[in-house]
Amino acid sequence: MAKYKIAWLPGDGVGNEVMECAKIVLDVINLDADYIPGDVGWEFWKNEGNPLPERTIKILKETDCCLFGAITSKPKEEAAKELASNLKKKDFVYSSPIVGLRQLLNLHTNMRPCKAFEGNPLNYRDDIDLIVFRENTEGLYAGVEFHPVPEKIFNALLTHKKMKKFENIPLDDLAISTRIFTRKGCQSIIRQAFEYAKSYKRKSVTVVEKPNVIRETSGMMIREARKIAEEYPSIDLFETNVDAMCMWLVKNPQDYDILVSSNMFGDIISDLAAQLVGGLGFAASANIGDKYGVFEPTHGSAPKYAGQYKVNPIAMIISVKLMLDFLGEKQDGDKLIQAIAQVIKEGKVRTYDLGGNSISLEVAKEIAKKFREQ
Ligand code: IPM
Ligand code: MG
Repeated sequence: MAKYKIAWLPGDGVGNEVMECAKIVLDVINLDADYIPGDVGWEFWKNEGNPLPERTIKILKETDCCLFGAITSKPKEEAAKELASNLKKKDFVYSSPIVGLRQLLNLHTNMRPCKAFEGNPLNYRDDIDLIVFRENTEGLYAGVEFHPVPEKIFNALLTHKKMKKFENIPLDDLAISTRIFTRKGCQSIIRQAFEYAKSYKRKSVTVVEKPNVIRETSGMMIREARKIAEEYPSIDLFETNVDAMCMWLVKNPQDYDILVSSNMFGDIISDLAAQLVGGLGFAASANIGDKYGVFEPTHGSAPKYAGQYKVNPIAMIISVKLMLDFLGEKQDGDKLIQAIAQVIKEGKVRTYDLGGNSISLEVAKEIAKKFREQ
């Protein structure tokens, strides 16, 4: 029996191609693992009314971790139109399987490294080395939303004086998405950010919120951050509002180290940070819980490129490195990142985003070759 069982979820579109690239690299690493393929994505939504079928959840529960490609996500009306005719009008509501999976497996921490690799022509600056810690199961992504707003909820909200301005709005003309934070959720994401900073000798942790306006949720995050920061006297705590952070990240990204934020703001700043180091082709992520991890590039399924082996597989391959770290295979993880860095620096094998004309598989093979040569 292999040492590890890894759920293998390519998903939609280019997810399949970048997972093929991941496999090329994993084969060279010779990780002692069984890969168990699972169904996820648009096809299963269209044909079964569920993009994350129960049989896939079973696989996730029986494995050590999961490698995930990409999925197509569409707003609810568009998704409903694409359902198979026998499923239409049966009250199926589309929701993103990756968000569902994060909640189902309680993958509370999303970690997204954004490092400028030497020689990457897309670097905004060469001295950027940021990591975004994004709370991954709460906030605006918790999915507690209402439309039309049920009477009971509406009446409960009317006890708040600021609801007065909405009191005469018909319930069907109101939509409410809640932003729910728990103290435990705030403490956990802040703690992870500080622990990481401590282990990797990082200088600062910047909490990115908006407590001057969103007083209770953002406020709770900041208050918890201040308390936890006291336990880490050698690491600076900075507090920055999310809007200002977007500006500072464009102005002086090299000044930042670890960024920590709630679910929605973390989603936004992680795309911004990714673009500073070459875009989504370099943006990897680890969704981590107490016992399980799902590793995925942050890009989508890019339907217009599907089947062309055009996209940059580096985000996926950095996700493999994050998976190796999670499994405790640090040495291979470090070797893999070295191999990636060498291929980028040499610049001979490059996908279109980097001005090259190599296909995804060639990049993966080149990284595998460099891994082997170390
Ligand atoms: C990400 C993506 C997802 C998110 C989408 C696909 C639901 O943008 O992982 O950042 O919003 O979390
Ligand atoms: Mg995103």
